[in-house]
Amino acid sequence: MQSTDLDQLSHFSTTNDLATQLRLISNAFPGQVVFSSSFSWEDQVISHVIFSNDIDIEVFTLDTGRLFSETYSTWSRTIEKYNKKVIAYYPQADRLQTFVAAKGPNSFYESVDNRKQCCFIRKVEPLQRALQGKRIWITGIRAEHSPNRHDMHQIEKDEANNVLKFHPLLNWTTDQVTTFISENNIPYNPLHDKGFISIGCAPCTRAVKPGEDFRAGRWWWEESTRKECGLHIHTENEQPIEKVL
Ligand code: ADX
Ligand code: SF4
Repeated sequence: MQSTDLDQLSHFSTTNDLATQLRLISNAFPGQVVFSSSFSWEDQVISHVIFSNDIDIEVFTLDTGRLFSETYSTWSRTIEKYNKKVIAYYPQADRLQTFVAAKGPNSFYESVDNRKQCCFIRKVEPLQRALQGKRIWITGIRAEHSPNRHDMHQIEKDEANNVLKFHPLLNWTTDQVTTFISENNIPYNPLHDKGFISIGCAPCTRAVKPGEDFRAGRWWWEESTRKECGLHIHTENEQPIEKVL
């Protein structure tokens, strides 16, 4: 990660138009820019811009094996509509097999440590592979998602993965996202119409009630207000998940 990368990225992020931002970034870092999609409506906005403008940014997803069937159908509809590739990364089979054999398939409900181990095996380690040799990681994070994302910056350093992260939709409102989706006829996860705002794995996500924090439906049985799976660690107080294994 070089300081000039940061200068360039900061410069590009001041351009208003999302397609222009992404094109400038992909041209400046050819073959080294990736976008991670969970097929949330934010991610569908970014995929739409990448795919419909033929921007050279690799789109990947972390298939935990525990996603909602609606998420898989959104994935299918996306590749059909745009006729583009979404690269899937999977957990290491032997690691997952050992973990499930020792703790059972749903051990995440039993302790935070089990939950973090499951997230590490199914998401964080595959993410590390997806980011290897890359310089820029684009995400669909928005500040509105939760109070602990309010103080995030559009550009962050991810020292552990040696990349710069760029969150182009950080300051978009839900209204802006849904309007963009409907104006551009973008396929989206039907769970969003059923009270699901932030969507992760099926056993660990529920719909939220009006007025609830957007991420209240994630790992809802845990008490912490700073619930993250380890993909996005951005405060000094949060420990990388590896350290709790
Ligand atoms: S998480 O850390 O709690 O799981 P969240 O669901 O808020 O993340 O999504 C924020 C961003 O993280 C998404 O816009 C996407 O870029 C990335 N992301 C989350 N889950 C996945 C996934 N399964 N595959 C790829 N990217 C993901
Ligand atoms: Fe495992 Fe739940 Fe984390 Fe998915 S969200 S990786 S099922 S603990």
